[in-house]
Amino acid sequence: MRLRSLLFVPGDRPERMVKAAALDADALILDLEDSVAPGAKAAAREAIAAFLSEPRPRALFVRINPLDSGLAADDLAAVLPGRPDGIVLPKAEGAASLAALDAMLSGDIRILPIATETPAAIFALGSYGGVTPRLCGLTWGAEDLPAAIGAATSREADGSYTAPYQLARSLTLFGAHAAGVPAIETVYPDFRDLDGLAAYAARGRRDGFTGMMAIHPSQVPVINAAFTPSAEERDHAQRIVELFAANPGAGALQMDGRMVDAPHLKAARAVLALAAD
Ligand code: COA
Ligand code: MG
Repeated sequence: MRLRSLLFVPGDRPERMVKAAALDADALILDLEDSVAPGAKAAAREAIAAFLSEPRPRALFVRINPLDSGLAADDLAAVLPGRPDGIVLPKAEGAASLAALDAMLSGDIRILPIATETPAAIFALGSYGGVTPRLCGLTWGAEDLPAAIGAATSREADGSYTAPYQLARSLTLFGAHAAGVPAIETVYPDFRDLDGLAAYAARGRRDGFTGMMAIHPSQVPVINAAFTPSAEERDHAQRIVELFAANPGAGALQMDGRMVDAPHLKAARAVLALAAD
């Protein structure tokens, strides 16, 4: 399943689900958690269940409430009959929470944990591998953790993350790759700033993220472009692959006056795989 862009839609806004389904996002995340007020949870469950029963032009994930919220069982009971493509698990805390959700699912339903929303979650970021083949990626959030630890903000004056949240982002990146699944960037809340989004997403791709969550329709094309290899990148990768194919048995070669060896070949193959998706 290709996951470049995943667009959040509040579960109590069925008209927005219809709009979102017409966009070019790889997946929608129909939300039952933070974007839905406590009094609206029941109606949101019904709206999502109804939407899941319609023909599906793209992958549909549902973000349930946290496993310890007292709401998750009712969330799952409402949405699982509609066979969502995946469940987004907020406040995930590593292997134990992944296994717990896995045990509540049957059939071909993926799990995407949001893996940095509690203090304990940070220490479990290396534990997601080998638990279940349902794991389809790992993502992170910078909104809940500051509140949980009494921090004033997760951001510097210029909008960049403070050191604790850069650490959470980096550990998510390595935790995802250690588990052998895609690393998915968190949302960019300032949805009117598309240049800032493009720059942020480009840094994510540079660092090894292969997709990103969105909150607004205008963010989807920007994110798709950022996580799709450009023609130049594809050509460069193709040349590296061809160079090694033309020199079987060679470990290190030169291209354009620079050394290329095994990691470059691996990276080039990854670019071509991303481009082929
Ligand atoms: N999905 C689908 N459509 C959306 C949308 C979304 N996430 N966000 C906005 N739209 C639509 C609006 O319905 C509107 O459509 P219209 O032009 O046909 O009326 C259009 O896009 C423009 O919306 P805009 O006025 O720019 O935004 P807003 O002020 O109405 O909404 C948010 C802003 C942030 C509340 C909204 O984007 C949103 O709900 N995002 C998702 C929030 C969420 O799920 N958060 C949880 C994860 S962090
Ligand atoms: Mg949250």
